[in-house]
Amino acid sequence: MTLLDVIKADVGLSPIHLATIVVFCLAILYIGLVRRPAFPARSPKIIRGNWPIVGSLGFWRKRYDWWIEAGEQAETKNFSFHVGKHRLVGTFSEEGRKTFFNHRQLGFTEGYAVLFGQSPSYDETGSDEELHLTNDHFHRRIAALLKTEKLVKVLPTLIADVSSGLQELAVTSPDETDPFDSIYKLVYRLTLRIVGATEIAESPHLSDQTLHLFGQIEQTARPYQIIWPWLPSPALFTRYWAGAKMYMIFSKILNARKKTEQKLDDPLQFLVNQGDDIRQIISFIVGALFAGQLNSGYNAAWILCYLATYPRWLNQVRKEVSVVADKHIPGSDTLVQKLSKLPLEVWEHGFPTIELCLRESIRLQLHGSGFRKNISGKDVIIDDEVVPPGGFLVYHFGHHLRNQEIYQDPEKWEPERYLPDRAEDKKSPNAYVGWGTGRHPCLGMRFAKLEQNIIAAFFCAIFDFELFDSTGAKMVNPPEPQVNAWSACGPEMSVKLRYKPRNKE
Ligand code: HEM
Ligand SMILES: *[C@@H]1O[C@H](CO)[C@@H](O)[C@H](O)[C@H]1NC(C)=O
Ligand SMILES: *[C@@H]1O[C@H](CO)[C@@H](O)[C@H](O)[C@H]1NC(C)=O
Repeated sequence: MTLLDVIKADVGLSPIHLATIVVFCLAILYIGLVRRPAFPARSPKIIRGNWPIVGSLGFWRKRYDWWIEAGEQAETKNFSFHVGKHRLVGTFSEEGRKTFFNHRQLGFTEGYAVLFGQSPSYDETGSDEELHLTNDHFHRRIAALLKTEKLVKVLPTLIADVSSGLQELAVTSPDETDPFDSIYKLVYRLTLRIVGATEIAESPHLSDQTLHLFGQIEQTARPYQIIWPWLPSPALFTRYWAGAKMYMIFSKILNARKKTEQKLDDPLQFLVNQGDDIRQIISFIVGALFAGQLNSGYNAAWILCYLATYPRWLNQVRKEVSVVADKHIPGSDTLVQKLSKLPLEVWEHGFPTIELCLRESIRLQLHGSGFRKNISGKDVIIDDEVVPPGGFLVYHFGHHLRNQEIYQDPEKWEPERYLPDRAEDKKSPNAYVGWGTGRHPCLGMRFAKLEQNIIAAFFCAIFDFELFDSTGAKMVNPPEPQVNAWSACGPEMSVKLRYKPRNKE
C-alpha cells in the first residue's frame, strides 16, 4: 500500500495506516536530515562536538578558537568533522598543507562552491562539468583583463581615481575618516575599473548601490544556508533579490550603450565583445569582487592604521615615496604631480617598503579557511588518512600565518620579519600563504599590489595622519584584528584616521 492509497482511503485512518504514515515521515526526515555518510575506518579521528544533523558548530561560531582546540585533539595532526552531511578533514601538518595546495585530486572550485557559500554561481544541483565551464570562463576572462597592456592603459585612470578621490575626501570630511569605509570604497572604485563598468565607477550612486548588493550577497553565507542550501530562508530570498537587482542595473547600462552606440573601452565592453551574455557577465563580475574586494579593500585600510601607529615605518614609506618620485620625475613638480606621472613598472617594482607593509598586513588579516574537494571519484581507499571521496580538505590560512614556530611574536605587525636577517617567510616551503601557492596562487596579486602601492603612496603624500578610537583618544597601538572572522574584515571597534593635508613640497 502506498501513501497515496492511504490518503485516498475515505474511511477513517486505521492505526496501521497511521503508523505507516509516521514511519514514512520519520524515514524521510532521517534520510533528509540525520543520515550522513560515515567516515571510512582509516580517516582521521572525529573531533568532539560533532553533532548529528548540523556537524561541528564551533566551525561556525569561533572558527579560529575552534581550530586550535581541534588541533589539541588531533594526534595525527589531522581531524575529521561534519558540516551538515559533508565530510571534512582539517589538517595541521606540513604534509597536509602540501596536499592541500598541490594535489591534483583536490578541486578548488568544487570546494569553495559548497563551503564558502557566498559565490552567486553556488548551485549544488549543477553538475561538476557545468562548474568547470564557468570556472574556465572566469579564469580566461580574469587573465585577459589583468594583462600588462590592459594595466598600462588603465593606470592613468587608477591614479586619477586615487588622487582625486583622496583630495575630495579631504573636502567632504575635512578632519577625519573611517578608512574601513572610505578607503574600502576607493578600492571598490579601482576594482570596478579593472573588472567592472565605467558607468558604475563614475557614479557614486551606482557604486554605493552595487557595493550594497554585493554586501547583501556576501551576508547570505549563513551556516544554515550552507548546511541546507535548498532551505527557503530569508537569506536565500535576499540573495535572489540582490542578484535580480544587479541584473537590472547591468541590463540598463547595456541597453543604454546599445542605444547610444557608445563603445567604452572598459571591462564590461570587453566581456560583451567576447560574446558573453548578461548572466555570464554578472556572474564574472560578482565572482571577481568576491576574489578581490574584501582582501584588497580591508588591507588597504589596515595598512594606513598600521602606518599611523608605527611612525618608524611611516617615515620609511614617506622617504621611499619621495625618493622614487624624485628619481624618476626630476624637476620642480609637487610630490603628488610627480607620483601622477610614474609609469607602471615603477608602481609595480619601485615600492618594496609598501610591499613589506602589505605582506605583513595580509598575514594578520587573512582569517578565512580554504577548501578543496576530493574529486577523484574512486571508491577504494588505500592510503592512510585520506580525505574521503566527495569529502573536503580544510586548511586554516589565518592559523598558519600565526604559527609561532614560523613567526616570532606572531600577533605583532612587524614588516621587518621578512627582511633577509629574519626571513621568517622562507623558514619552510610555503611558510607564507598570504597569496596562496601551488596549483592555485592568487590570480589578482599583481593588480592587488599595484593598487595598494598607489593608495598608500598617495595617502602618505597628501596627508599627515594619526589614528583615533571611538572615544576620541589617540591610538598608539593598532586595533585588534577579528581572528574568528571567515574572511578579511575591519576591527570590531570603530576607528578614525585624523588627517591634515601636508604642506606642498
Ligand atoms: C590583498 C589582496 C588579496 C589577497 C590577500 C588575496 C589572497 C588570495 C589567496 C590566499 C588565494 C588562494 C586561496 C586558496 O588557495 O584557497 C587567492 C586566490 C585567488 N585570487 Fe586573490 N587575493 C587578493 C586580491 C585579489 C584580487 C584583486 C583578485 C582579482 C581581481 C584576486 C583573484 C583571485 C583569484 C581568481 C583566485 C583563485 C585562483 C584559482 O582559482 O586558481 N585576488 N587570493
Ligand atoms: C593528513 O592528511 C593529509 C591530507 O589528506 C595527508 O596528506 C597526510 O598524509 C595526513 N597525515 C599526516 C600525518 O599529515
Ligand atoms: C580521494 O579519494 C580517493 C578515493 O577514496 C583516495 O584514493 C584519495 O587518496 C583521496 N585523495 C586525497 C587527497 O585524500
